[in-house]
Amino acid sequence: MTLAKRISAISPSPTLAITAKVKEMKAKGIDVIGFGAGEPDFDTPEHIKEEAKRSLDEGFTKYTPDSGIPELKEAICKKLKKDNDLDYEPGQIIVSCGAKHSLYNAMQVLCESGDEVLLPSPYWVSYPEQIRLSGAEPVIIETEEEEGFKIKIERLREKITSRTKLLILNSPSNPTGAVYHRKELEAIAEIAIEKNIYVISDEIYEKIIYDNLKHISITSLNSEIKKLTLVINGLSKSYSMTGWRIGYAAGPKEIVDAMSRLQSHSTSNPTSFAQKASIVALEGSQEPLRGMVSEFAQRREYIVERLNSITGISCLKPEGAFYVFPNISKLLGKSYKPSPCAQRLGKSQIIKDSINLSQILLEDAKIAVVPGLAFGKDHYLRLSYATSMENITKGMDRLEKFVKKL
Ligand SMILES: Cc1ncc(COP(=O)(O)O)c(C=O)c1O
Repeated sequence: MTLAKRISAISPSPTLAITAKVKEMKAKGIDVIGFGAGEPDFDTPEHIKEEAKRSLDEGFTKYTPDSGIPELKEAICKKLKKDNDLDYEPGQIIVSCGAKHSLYNAMQVLCESGDEVLLPSPYWVSYPEQIRLSGAEPVIIETEEEEGFKIKIERLREKITSRTKLLILNSPSNPTGAVYHRKELEAIAEIAIEKNIYVISDEIYEKIIYDNLKHISITSLNSEIKKLTLVINGLSKSYSMTGWRIGYAAGPKEIVDAMSRLQSHSTSNPTSFAQKASIVALEGSQEPLRGMVSEFAQRREYIVERLNSITGISCLKPEGAFYVFPNISKLLGKSYKPSPCAQRLGKSQIIKDSINLSQILLEDAKIAVVPGLAFGKDHYLRLSYATSMENITKGMDRLEKFVKKL
């Protein structure tokens, strides 16, 4: 069989693969602690579920307008004004099947062969693949731990060429939890305006932010950057609605219209009753969200402290999202002797890289983490703390015990 060239270079999402592997191991009765999850471990709040049920009972089960129902677009406009001080009209909004879908649509309508897309590393796993699927090339901008995993302006300038089409910005970040502050965003916006580069601002973790920080959308800085920016957001993370598949984009009408045309020939509308429930999520009580963030904040303190207490591991304290991205470079090159339960890994071996370490941790210590390499940075692991404190404690005990044996 001959598959199209554009798909042969695309690998499956490594984070979804880890989650599936953990489920499979658990089903076999193996006691594995999963730190791979990219979704809150909280249920969707009751009032949101009630609205979906009510919509179903009322027969709201048919096609809706391709780019989303007007009432949801209105609710999104109100949200963008209230939270981000952004003025948009419903015609500048598209509702898609998750933020991932909005991002995909955006890449398809903005980029093509010959274009370059600036992508700060570490990056969320789907960005490079979505860029390639559009025909464009990802151009990596390395960010360093010492700089809080945020773009250094000189490095950004160096990477700009006549082919640069857009920059992807993700704050708070998956996988590092880095949050861009106003001054940093101003410096980036200045360059984007000067060089006429579009910005995709993925703000899906905006509400999961700590230390009384306030999320700032680069779009809100001035009218010039607003003309170049597409805001991506969604309901998945803030309202524990990952399975509902509702995300959205807000931006220049021309871009949003093109995305709507594309969507009208691919998925059509996002699920009808999930859209209705999303209005209630945005406009109803935000108490469940506050409770979730306060729980995440406690877990963050604990997991960062535990990781930093393990000799050979160091970890920055993230300012947002629900991931930690510990540095494991001191563990690489160490020799490891499999315990009896992991004999199939061989006798003794040297830990080569983050992929190798993640495999060993899964087989031997029974903890599932995502290798940093999946996000463009070897020498790191990504752990999600969207799991109970009990699991985190158990997992950290296992990790500590494992590292001591090296
Ligand atoms: C940075 C980032 N953007 C977008 C998404 C997609 O979210 P969804 O498609 O569930 O709305 C994710 C999910 O993991 C993410 O981490």
